[in-house]
Amino acid sequence: MLSTKLLSLLCLLPFVLGAPAGELLPNLAASGAPSSSGATLSTSASSTATQATSSTTSSSASTGISTISTSSASASSSGVSTESGVSSTPISSYPFTPFPTPTLPPNPPVFPATDPLSPPAVSNDPQIIPDFAPAWAAAYEKAKNLLSSYTLEEKVNITTGVGWQNGLCVGNIPANKNFPGLCLEDSPLAVRYTDYATAFPAGIQVASTFNRALMRARGLAMGQEFKGKGVHIALGPMMNMGRIAQGGRNWEGFGADPFLTGESAYETILGLQQGGVQATAKHFINNEQEHFRTQESSNVDDRTQHEIYAHPFLRSVMAGVSSVMCSYNLVNDTYACNNDKMINDILKREYGFQGFVQSDWQATMSTLSAVAGLDMTMPGDVTFNSGDSYFGGNLTSFVNQGIISEARVDDMATRIVAGWYYLHQDSGYPEVSFNAFDLNDEVHNKHINVQSDHYKLVREVGAAGTVLLKNENDALPLNKPRNLILMGSDAGPGKAGPNEFTDQGGSDGFLAMGWGSGTGNFPYLVTPYEAISQRARLDGSSVFWDFDDFDTAQAGNMAIGQAVALVFVNSDSGEDYIVVDGNEGDRKNLTAWHGGDNLILAVAAQNNNTIVVVNSVGPLILEPWIEHPNITAVVWAGIAGQEGGNAIADILYGAYNPSGRLPYTIAKSPSDYGAQLVTGGSGNEILSIDYSEGLMIDYRHFDAANIEPRFEFGFGLSYTKFKYSDIAISPIWTSDMAQQHLITAWEDGEASPIAEGSSTALWLHEPAFKVTFNVRNAGSIAGAEIPQLYIHHPTDAGEPPSVLKGFTNVEINPGETKRVSITLSRYDLSIWDVVAQGWRKPVGEITFSVGASSRDFKLKGVIPA
Ligand code: BGC
Repeated sequence: MLSTKLLSLLCLLPFVLGAPAGELLPNLAASGAPSSSGATLSTSASSTATQATSSTTSSSASTGISTISTSSASASSSGVSTESGVSSTPISSYPFTPFPTPTLPPNPPVFPATDPLSPPAVSNDPQIIPDFAPAWAAAYEKAKNLLSSYTLEEKVNITTGVGWQNGLCVGNIPANKNFPGLCLEDSPLAVRYTDYATAFPAGIQVASTFNRALMRARGLAMGQEFKGKGVHIALGPMMNMGRIAQGGRNWEGFGADPFLTGESAYETILGLQQGGVQATAKHFINNEQEHFRTQESSNVDDRTQHEIYAHPFLRSVMAGVSSVMCSYNLVNDTYACNNDKMINDILKREYGFQGFVQSDWQATMSTLSAVAGLDMTMPGDVTFNSGDSYFGGNLTSFVNQGIISEARVDDMATRIVAGWYYLHQDSGYPEVSFNAFDLNDEVHNKHINVQSDHYKLVREVGAAGTVLLKNENDALPLNKPRNLILMGSDAGPGKAGPNEFTDQGGSDGFLAMGWGSGTGNFPYLVTPYEAISQRARLDGSSVFWDFDDFDTAQAGNMAIGQAVALVFVNSDSGEDYIVVDGNEGDRKNLTAWHGGDNLILAVAAQNNNTIVVVNSVGPLILEPWIEHPNITAVVWAGIAGQEGGNAIADILYGAYNPSGRLPYTIAKSPSDYGAQLVTGGSGNEILSIDYSEGLMIDYRHFDAANIEPRFEFGFGLSYTKFKYSDIAISPIWTSDMAQQHLITAWEDGEASPIAEGSSTALWLHEPAFKVTFNVRNAGSIAGAEIPQLYIHHPTDAGEPPSVLKGFTNVEINPGETKRVSITLSRYDLSIWDVVAQGWRKPVGEITFSVGASSRDFKLKGVIPA
């Protein structure tokens, strides 16, 4: 198995490398010593766990940066020194033609020339498609100009990180002539490893809001903080799909639907880059589980790839994203960072991506990855602190020997420098003002306060992303209860404060972040106990608590006589380099942590107004207690960041009327999900993960297989009621006459042509149909409804029964009716034709539904032929 798999992943190379194939794999030893927290920090290839505690030893005092050699010194004179030792086999050369900018004339008002610092205003029904091509063209010209005096070594230097912990940030490109170098820093929810920065709600929380304005605002606030700290490239957003309910990093991303994920990524990137920092769309592609992430091949068919997993990256390109990070795993038996099909063909050719592709940390597996489209290797060294690089001297050597064309290195360096000009980072950009690896470094930690008033937004996103799952007898909102009790460790503070565990790799209190590189330091953490105690005082309510999860007898006794018993439970996950309570990144099961189910049942046995609050990184199985008659309400409070407790209090007391929606399905049984975590495998082989369910992930599978979920995708209650009526649909005439022939061909059932930028073309994405309908607030308090639009393709199209293609949010006062619109593009109605390699309207009638969830349809219509 080993040799066939590894040989096939080398299909890019026209030669057989001399060294044992196993050397191509990163060091995958998974041993680790338990830390004091009970978490295990593994020493696997992807380990970043030591970042927080170890300090830089090799950085120069002035810049904190040292570099990996870019001269050919490390290449042997008789052959080419590669990742697999010295190969004396002649290697043919790889010619290179850069991908040109897609040529579409700007077409305001639909397709206005846009600078990333000034994106179009956010809209609940976006109809403007920003055209970043002119901004890229201007940036390319400046980059080419700057690089015109650079030697080959100097250009290679721009593509090669300085090596692990050799700079101030988690990734660093060295200064070079007039180019000051680049700081790349995690994470998708905070400026990682620094102080005076905000701990925002996780990606999954903002996705649950289904609210574009909040997605954009969160992106902008984070962008401002990254810039304020001097970071050039923020390592987020993360947009791998929630294919597997247990997937360890799902909370960093935007859920289990590609459209929701794509829109969340789009708005987040527009916001981040408006704030001044370059955004990174990661991880490209198919890194959907943590187990064996550096040693698994995600085997995905072309249609599924286009319609599900690549779609958020397409939307990222349309948001003008500056960088894309390729992932650790293999895709169809070729490493993602070495994958010509994914990087060159889909990302750069089909999507017309103008920015640069960086590797995940140590995900580069070959110097020839440059030919497959990789532009920058991070953190630079082959393995952490190995002192060598697949780029650096090896890349220089490959060019000098005529194997890789210098034009390709020019293209790599140009793309990287262009990203810097594109965000206008060449003028007045702040210096890096922190040392990610040493918070006690007095020289580099300038302690710049970048928090502004972002805590308000954190609180709002926390509340807006909270999903009300059950509310019997108007148990919520709380109405001046005489007394109440808070149960469970998730209600209160952890034993040693909010930053007790390295990279948040542990859980003994209120959960407001998962673990791994996708985290940040909490400046503070408002717990439910703190927030509810304060709020309850206004009503004169007595407040009691019991944070012991396991003494269920005590919990039951204490719940007796309380007007309300609030039980807090959680479930955590993260990145694979930290193991918490036997969870190796991915969750080992879908039950509440710390015996949560038993605690809930013990309290519910004694108190007939038991309200459950859940802080979970993803779905849980709620069957042991969800129908218990004494459980009157369930609040799905998510992973909400530093203001999490306040957000929960806002929902419980009705200061915020719940409008969050589930970004994934909550099943009745783990086996109901269409795709399962693949475990097993050994250190010597590539684990095959077949995405054999194709398009049928999450709700698509439940619908297709007719399985009743507990709570379906898109579900969420409110404290008021909404009524839908009067649906209409009308075509929108194109403003783009130059591409009229393509529209006509599409209407006739032809696939879109193969061309540079063909999948992001204006005619395909411009507004084509407008669906309008009325929504009335039929209750007695103001609230926001989240109408969702699902397309139903003709049966022959081979699509799931329903696919989300639109959502909006509308705030409505009691008794008021609002006319709402959701716009569809031709792309939204298309399927990927694997034979023609283009987007095609399926033959037959396309219908659609508008409603309050993926199963609660209120209105129906037909797309005009
Ligand atoms: C993660 C990336 C992260 C990088 C740098 C990797 O382990 O997969 O998401 O940006 O480390 O910390």
